[in-house]
Amino acid sequence: MFDGMKRVSFAEFGGPEVLRLEDAAEPHAGPGQIRISVRAAGVNPVDWRIREGQFQQTHPIELPAGVGLDAAGVVDEIGAGVTGIEPGARVFGEGSGTYAEFAVLSDWARIPEGLSFAEAAGYPSVVETALRILGEVGVRPGQTLLVSGASGGVGSAVLQIAGDRGITVIGTAGAANQEYLRELGAVATTYGAGWADRVREFGPVDAALDLAGSGVLGELVALTGDPRKVITIADLGAPEFGVRFSGVAGSMPDALGEAATLIERGALRIPVERTYALAEAAAAHRDSQSGHSRGRRVVLP
Ligand SMILES: NC(=O)c1ccc[n+]([C@@H]2O[C@H](COP(=O)([O-])OP(=O)(O)OC[C@H]3O[C@@H](n4cnc5c(N)ncnc54)[C@H](OP(=O)(O)O)[C@@H]3O)[C@@H](O)[C@H]2O)c1
Repeated sequence: MFDGMKRVSFAEFGGPEVLRLEDAAEPHAGPGQIRISVRAAGVNPVDWRIREGQFQQTHPIELPAGVGLDAAGVVDEIGAGVTGIEPGARVFGEGSGTYAEFAVLSDWARIPEGLSFAEAAGYPSVVETALRILGEVGVRPGQTLLVSGASGGVGSAVLQIAGDRGITVIGTAGAANQEYLRELGAVATTYGAGWADRVREFGPVDAALDLAGSGVLGELVALTGDPRKVITIADLGAPEFGVRFSGVAGSMPDALGEAATLIERGALRIPVERTYALAEAAAAHRDSQSGHSRGRRVVLP
């Protein structure tokens, strides 16, 4: 009998069409890891950037490779040295090859009460990034933060966490997401022609985050008056403007713990925009690559 599973993989770098649903051997938890029966995998832009080979210079991977970092599921194997979690526990976290029936996680936390697997899978990378860049930009309670590209996964988390800390947030998004930004507690305006003037009308800006990489760093520096008060996670032209590019992940265990606390307090909720079957992973990537989003997309094995 085949002791295997279904997983999404790719054997060459390229567009969404290189993704395949295949039979593969089950992975097993190594020291310090757990294995989960995956119930949902979060779709992050980094997944298709890896599929395109964008990180081969800095973080090379060997092909064929699985896809996906974030997941939620049920623990079914505990690696050597792991304590504090038991088979059957519902967890969310980060690992590798998560668009699959089973995946190994290196960081995890228990899913807070009342959260579905599909919702939980959307948090790990998004919350780690949001907490990291809020810390790095150094914005304080009572100050005003501008977020360019605020309706996606990272933006949804940044808006709610900043609001919870007493920071006033101005967010830009497409016309269809203006009401969504307001629901998350932000002052909203559209990107596109004249956006910086629209932001100016709301008053002074103390710090800014560029989440969309849409070529606005010059305007963000002008609005804050200081390149050190601007951080981007998506624009590689940052040095030209004296702006920091934040790309080194912080502590995932700390981020998951803080996410769980915020979720339990009702201070953080990232909506699931759409779910996809494993066989629809290419469609999930195409939709993510469109650059438009409200919350997080999720693949369900
Ligand atoms: N460096 C890091 O550590 C790190 C970590 C995480 C993510 N990232 C990168 O950061 C980016 C955002 O990630 P994400 O997960 O939040 O992506 P996402 O969920 O796909 O969201 C993309 C966002 O960009 C907005 N947008 C599209 N065109 C825009 C424009 N011209 N001006 C302003 N906003 C625009 C979209 O708004 P509408 O839908 O309303 O149009 C949406 O809110 C991705 O490029 C990702 O690769 C980097």
